[in-house]
Amino acid sequence: MQRALLLENVHPTSVPILESAGYEVDYRKGALDEDELIAALDGVQLLGIRSKTEVTARVLSEATSLVGVGAFSIGTNQINLTAAANRGVAVFNAPFSNTRSVVELAIAEIISLTRRMTERDRALHDGVWDKSAEGSHEVRGRTLGIVGYGNIGSQLSVLAENLGMSVIFFDTAEKLALGNARRAETLDELLETADIVTLHVDGRSGNAGLFGEKQFARMKQGSIFLNLCRGFVVDVDSLAEHIRSGHLSGAAVDVFPAEPKKRGDAFESVLRGLPNVILTPHVGGSTEEAQEAIGQFVAKKLSDYVTTGSTMLSVNLPNLQLEHTGVGRIKLLHRNVPGVLATVNQIFADHGANIEGQMLATRGDVGYVVTDISDVTERGASKKLQALESTIRLRIRDAFERPEFPPGPAAR
Ligand SMILES: NC(=O)c1ccc[n+]([C@@H]2O[C@H](COP(=O)([O-])OP(=O)(O)OC[C@H]3O[C@@H](n4cnc5c(N)ncnc54)[C@H](O)[C@@H]3O)[C@@H](O)[C@H]2O)c1
Repeated sequence: MQRALLLENVHPTSVPILESAGYEVDYRKGALDEDELIAALDGVQLLGIRSKTEVTARVLSEATSLVGVGAFSIGTNQINLTAAANRGVAVFNAPFSNTRSVVELAIAEIISLTRRMTERDRALHDGVWDKSAEGSHEVRGRTLGIVGYGNIGSQLSVLAENLGMSVIFFDTAEKLALGNARRAETLDELLETADIVTLHVDGRSGNAGLFGEKQFARMKQGSIFLNLCRGFVVDVDSLAEHIRSGHLSGAAVDVFPAEPKKRGDAFESVLRGLPNVILTPHVGGSTEEAQEAIGQFVAKKLSDYVTTGSTMLSVNLPNLQLEHTGVGRIKLLHRNVPGVLATVNQIFADHGANIEGQMLATRGDVGYVVTDISDVTERGASKKLQALESTIRLRIRDAFERPEFPPGPAAR
């Protein structure tokens, strides 16, 4: 029986998906430390974690039966991705299962801040009937400036237009403008045009300090600022200053340069207590729907990998997917050195195997070739493939010999 270990209370929708791929699932609530993890991975092919379990190079070299790790999260910092690739372990995450949740929070905040609901709410809780239209606006007809037009930015663009807003966006990559959204040539153009500026750039290191004094100063008088992407992208001292001076009329911040480690920890920030500022504890993507979607998405990726060999959206291996054409499927992760494909195909030919379909992809110094074969006349091909100097990991399904092999000579 193949085994999967799921830690950190990942969403239970993942369990039946792995079971129907033929896995016996050990489901646990907590995280494990390095030694506990190594012990628990004995004889385990698939591991599922969230953010607290560290999959280190040592874990990967000790866990010889491991072939796939699912990060039931967006981030994969907790996994040594290079070490995983070098051991032939595929890593998958859920890059867009919580996109909609972030978008909905952004919409809610845009409306709340534009209506100054934060202040009305606080006053009434304090027993003050502050009925006034002053400073409250509709979002219809206002211009939303989206910085980073990826999964989240582009979906926000669609919903904002449905609310009657105009959208302008800025992205460093070439992006298709959806609906009537207009692309800004520069960030400054966006800042000078938008009534509301919202950040949705990715977490690449070059984005550290992307938004500071210079950018806030460029924003329109009375405009609103949102950051739901990464804390280190924004200089929060400058933001606080622009709120205090009245230059910005409100802000919503979900991510912070330094975030408390766990629920219940104290939170310190210059943004606390400022007027018309919504602070949320990095919950943009945290909804029950998103957790369920993440559970299904990652489990499906792991299941596809072990059944069909598909590495589509793997974050550390060459991405490929081959439609099933033959009777046997040979999946070979190898060092990306010249001549591997020719050698592999010669071995197939020597064993009378007819190649029905084949696909090769490479990523850095790792190559991945999936081959569908039929008409094998002689056994022993897999032993030869496994013994090749370039072999990192060989896996065979529906085939004639052993279904799983230990890491090959090139695993390191
Ligand atoms: N608050 C939360 O709970 C939460 C949840 C999910 C995602 N996020 C964060 O939201 C952000 C966006 O996620 P996504 O899935 O849309 O990512 P994505 O990779 O699909 O999109 C990011 C976009 O930003 C663009 N970009 C990068 N640097 C830029 C720059 N300096 N200027 C302009 N454009 C730039 C990229 O070209 C890309 O189009 C990420 O930082 C992610 O970590 C936060």
